[in-house]
Amino acid sequence: MDHEILKIENLKRNFIVGSETVHALKGVSFNVEQGEFLTIMGASGSGKTTLLNILGCLDSPTEGTYLLDNISIASLPKNDLAKLRNQKIGFVFQSFNLLARTTAIENVELPLLYNPKVSAKERKERAY
Ligand SMILES: Nc1ncnc2c1ncn2[C@@H]1O[C@H](COP(=O)(O)OP(=O)(O)O)[C@@H](O)[C@H]1O
Ligand SMILES: [Mg+2]
Repeated sequence: MDHEILKIENLKRNFIVGSETVHALKGVSFNVEQGEFLTIMGASGSGKTTLLNILGCLDSPTEGTYLLDNISIASLPKNDLAKLRNQKIGFVFQSFNLLARTTAIENVELPLLYNPKVSAKERKERAY
């Protein structure tokens, strides 16, 4: 049976700017199943980056629910979000964000370095 890997419901994100409130997301709902590929399209300023920041656990919604692999994200503290990012999410950035003073292989190894479940041996093998 298909498994819903992302479930978001009525997701809202407001930014307070001085005395104004910017409603960047006004109640977004959708589900994504395991193995499904998804593209988010929209005009500049429509909220793509705001949504991706939340889906990627870099930011939290003002309101609404977000379940990542059945874990509720909305009220998790920063450290728990960092753990989820490490274990469940891969980012491919527009710029590569490589560290200049480490080798290519060390750059590949780096995210696994922060995962205590992966041994040094496995880390090196997987990076290689
Ligand atoms: N940190 C922020 N503070 C205030 N307003 C923001 C912030 N981030 C985004 N916005 C506003 O939220 C809306 C959506 O922005 P954004 O998610 O960057 O759209 P997109 O990536 O689709 O161009 C825009 O009106 C933008 O100005
Ligand atoms: Mg953007």
